[in-house]
Amino acid sequence: MITTKNSATANAMALEDKYGAHNYHPLPVVLEKGDGVFVWDVEGKKYYDFLSAYSAVNQGHCHPKIINALTEQASTLTLTSRAFFNDKLGTYEEFMSNYFGFDKILPMNTGAEAVETAIKLCRKYAYEKKGVPENEAKIVVCENNFHGRTTTVISFSNDEGARKNFGPYTPGFTKVPYNDLEALENTLKTTKNIAGFLVEPIQGEAGVYVPDEGYINKAKALCEQYGVLFIADEVQTGIARTGQLLAVDHENVKPDILILGKALSGGVYPVSAVLANNDIMEVIKPGQHGSTFGGNPLAAAVATAALEVIQEENLAENAEKLGQLFRKELSAFAATHPIIKLVRGKGLLNAIVIDDTEDSSTAWDICIKLRDNGLLAKPTHGNIIRFAPPLVMTKDQLMDCVNIIKKTIQEF
Ligand SMILES: Cc1ncc(COP(=O)(O)O)c(C=O)c1O
Repeated sequence: MITTKNSATANAMALEDKYGAHNYHPLPVVLEKGDGVFVWDVEGKKYYDFLSAYSAVNQGHCHPKIINALTEQASTLTLTSRAFFNDKLGTYEEFMSNYFGFDKILPMNTGAEAVETAIKLCRKYAYEKKGVPENEAKIVVCENNFHGRTTTVISFSNDEGARKNFGPYTPGFTKVPYNDLEALENTLKTTKNIAGFLVEPIQGEAGVYVPDEGYINKAKALCEQYGVLFIADEVQTGIARTGQLLAVDHENVKPDILILGKALSGGVYPVSAVLANNDIMEVIKPGQHGSTFGGNPLAAAVATAALEVIQEENLAENAEKLGQLFRKELSAFAATHPIIKLVRGKGLLNAIVIDDTEDSSTAWDICIKLRDNGLLAKPTHGNIIRFAPPLVMTKDQLMDCVNIIKKTIQEF
């Protein structure tokens, strides 16, 4: 990577700095091309992408089948709004219904919007089907959650950076510690008017926290026992990332409401969705919720192709197999390199915890060196580095990456 004054890299970074809001702190590398598991910077240097746009590019960069679907549909019809029917949406909804096993889908665009949709659906169901008094519904969420950036969603975050000075906050949320069934049951037992429990099957942004085996299954059973909706946010964990189509599949759990985004489009276009059965979905009537772009024909064509790729290329199986290998290799390495305190994850959603304080720059410095050595990853929450390559990776490529990571960490 060249960052001398007036290099293409320096110029691109200077433009973002001058004209863009400073709401991100990107790793200093400017990308211009992607193909499968690789990306190239503006100086022509090639890297393994080990983040996949936070698990949106599960199918690999610019997957030809998805790009074909995009370009074909883009030159035919892109947007009608929902003022009219379009010839792609119904077919896509049927496909989604069969693919994930729910009666109905409500199409949106981004992950945060889909979370908002699930919250509205859950509240409305509580008022109209469970008789919760108006404006009294509560949704139980987990500490250290990440569900997006809207005002309501950050209202129940405990990340000060995400929350501070964005108040007043939306009421109606109760927090419990993640991976704590006793706390969940206690809250369900003692709090009135609980409408739902919103949970990430693995907490991605928090640092890839994998709950104890059985947590998701038992949490769902508790929700059934206390008559509250179990809402799974699979925006990051879904679509084969963790070695199953959905992370809840590891425990044979079927959520009442399922939230999807990111890899639903293979990272090609913002597409998200909320899925539920008729009993729940029917509470939303015309005019009560929507989005100009939600359910547009371009999104329908792209998402259908993206989901076909997952099946055709057995990406869940590949994520499972390569994930096991990755954790085995890195755990063995960590045993002799105490700078890695912990290796954890499921499928190809993994993280290493660096043995340093949360506010240290070691994880960032490692990511800079990884970049120099041809692999792009990003710290999440100080001393944790998330590793989430595209699921189209081969075993040889994975081993190549493992060697880059080992070599880089040996330098520290
Ligand atoms: C679990 C989860 N939910 C929701 C979101 C928000 O998605 P988006 O950034 O598309 O709004 C994310 C994004 O990282 C996420 O990880």
